[in-house]
Amino acid sequence: MELGSGTAAKTRVLLDALHETGTLVRYVPVDVTERMVRACAEQLTEEYPGLQVHGVIGDFERHLDQVPPAVGPRIVAFLGGTIGNFPPGSRRRVLRTIRALLGDGDHLLMGTDLVKDPEILEAAYDDAQGLTAEFNRNVLRVLNRELDAGFDPHDFEHVALFDREHEWIEMRLRARRAHTTLVRALDLPVHFEAGEEMRTEISAKFTRQRLQGDLAAAGLELVRWLTDAEEQFALTLSARAR
Ligand SMILES: C[S@@+](CC[C@H](N)C(=O)[O-])C[C@H]1O[C@@H](n2cnc3c(N)ncnc32)[C@H](O)[C@@H]1O
Repeated sequence: MELGSGTAAKTRVLLDALHETGTLVRYVPVDVTERMVRACAEQLTEEYPGLQVHGVIGDFERHLDQVPPAVGPRIVAFLGGTIGNFPPGSRRRVLRTIRALLGDGDHLLMGTDLVKDPEILEAAYDDAQGLTAEFNRNVLRVLNRELDAGFDPHDFEHVALFDREHEWIEMRLRARRAHTTLVRALDLPVHFEAGEEMRTEISAKFTRQRLQGDLAAAGLELVRWLTDAEEQFALTLSARAR
């Protein structure tokens, strides 16, 4: 099972390995984006003959009761540093929800970004091509589309900074000029002063100690800790604490 499966690009490495050892029976991608769940289910059933794919379109904070019961030992993959997007309290709640899915012999495989030089982090979230800036401003387009808001993305500049106290990257949008926008679906006027910022995302960076603390608080224990040679990223395997 994979939470926040997205395009499942990284998953293929895992699926190949499971396929080779003959233990790949079923893949359950869970994501809020219907288009991606459907596309990846279609592609993977073609790529891996005999593989059952049971896609779940939903919110992994609320809809994990829709996940089919396990047919054997299960790996829950939570990749791409998605856990870092949750502030500490809800991070532990999400981990507790995942723990409830794990039976004896099941594992959580989680990808996290590790604390590193703030210059490297800030450059990664403020890339020269402006991709992250566009990703950040896209939230305004989503608000316009989903809540009939009237934001002009050009009224905001992208801000990415490393909060050294919390050890997370914070993305913000800073108003270039004073203006008021109506979010029509909520009948809510929103006013920004010039230079006023709104937080749009956090992306927490971990140390082994912090991650172990979060896992333990959720009733999980670390089984394997794997990093790249420069210790920039970690992949952890955890199980229910005994
Ligand atoms: C950081 S991306 C990671 C995508 C992919 N796993 C990867 O590693 O490339 C986060 C993914 O989680 C999904 N997502 C975020 N919050 C979610 C939620 N509460 N419930 C379900 N999916 C969620 C997003 O749609 C997105 O596909």
